[in-house]
Amino acid sequence: MTSDPSGTVALAFSGGLDTTVCVPLIKEEYGYDDVIGVTVDVGQPAKEFDEAEETAEELGLEHFVVDAKAEFADLCMQSVKANGTYQGYPLGTALARPVIANAILEVAEEQGCSALAHGCTGKGNDQLRFEAVWRASDLDVLAPIRELGLTREWENEYAAEKGLPVEGGDGGRWSIDTNLWSRSVEGSELEDPSYVPGEEIYDWTTAPGSAETETLELTFEQGVPVALDGEAIDAVELIEQLNETAGKHGVGRSDIMEDRMLGLKVRENYEHPAATVLLNAHEALESLVLTQEERAFKQQVDQRWAQKGYEGLVEAPLTKALESFIEQTQTKVTGTVTVKLDGGQARPVGRDSDYAVYSESAASFNEEAVTDDIEQDDATGVAKYHGFQSRLANRVAANVAAKQAEAATDGGQTDDSE
Ligand code: ARG
Repeated sequence: MTSDPSGTVALAFSGGLDTTVCVPLIKEEYGYDDVIGVTVDVGQPAKEFDEAEETAEELGLEHFVVDAKAEFADLCMQSVKANGTYQGYPLGTALARPVIANAILEVAEEQGCSALAHGCTGKGNDQLRFEAVWRASDLDVLAPIRELGLTREWENEYAAEKGLPVEGGDGGRWSIDTNLWSRSVEGSELEDPSYVPGEEIYDWTTAPGSAETETLELTFEQGVPVALDGEAIDAVELIEQLNETAGKHGVGRSDIMEDRMLGLKVRENYEHPAATVLLNAHEALESLVLTQEERAFKQQVDQRWAQKGYEGLVEAPLTKALESFIEQTQTKVTGTVTVKLDGGQARPVGRDSDYAVYSESAASFNEEAVTDDIEQDDATGVAKYHGFQSRLANRVAANVAAKQAEAATDGGQTDDSE
């Protein structure tokens, strides 16, 4: 808590139970004069904004809605360049948090607020991601749920007592977080890792196998998808459209045991059709245009980038340095990829680029190929040398072992006789 609580607090507001109880608590428990609510649009379903708006009205809370979809989509595209996934999760929630935190900070500064607040618990990742951004500002940071040690039961009782608008209390069976890049489902029965969820947990994807096979063509420019089936399309629209199209094929479902930043393992289910299509297509194009060693090294860089993305530290110096490398490699990631959608999969089935590090004649079985004056027979010397050191090492080891065995037999006799 802050030493001089006064003025207005900008609260990250969704209209759910946690952020709703935060509104009176910030005044009652922290002593601030006023609260404003900020909801940031990173592609949640429209009904979430209606709910937030209604709840804000009932609370008499001044409510701001900021559209950050384009900014968020840009970060998703940066993630495509980095083939960004963490333990199989394309980072939807993780990447949205710094975008949301920055948008709220901007409103807070415009409105002359003295503090920022979120409704995250002390167990998750989001508290860390929000605060990593906010603590760079001069404003105070409040985390009422965590700091007051609140439980869901307590919050529900408090809401009932105060007559707060939290109809249904906990907002349904699952805890869901949706944005352009992914829909995450956790909680309730899913907390048991052995529980096999039914189709009811999915909203973006249809059970694989229920749609006719479909192919689509993606055009990339310097690592960024810029056209779908030959038509230029901006990032937000592309993601929305692919979520729809690939979702029908059941593409992009994952069920993982996720290691959170604080060390807790959590069972997470995700839907991310567009992310899966774009990540698969991007990687397919990279496999054509990058050299073997660029690909191998980039895998390590990508993994580190995804880790920073998961941590919500997209502005860290390391992240920026990794991006310099990534950017350099992406100068060649221009071309098209054909992707087939069926049976829950988005499979790259064709790729084409002017930068292809590929010589059909050199790789072909049919031609007596010559590239850089190299002929088939030139491999003979290479084949003789290949594995030379391993063969030598194994031979040496075998010889030493044989000598030792011999010495043990001879030596045994000598020792006995002495
Ligand atoms: N575990 C994910 C992450 O930390 C997403 C959590 C989303 N929250 C939810 N209530 N489903 O990025």
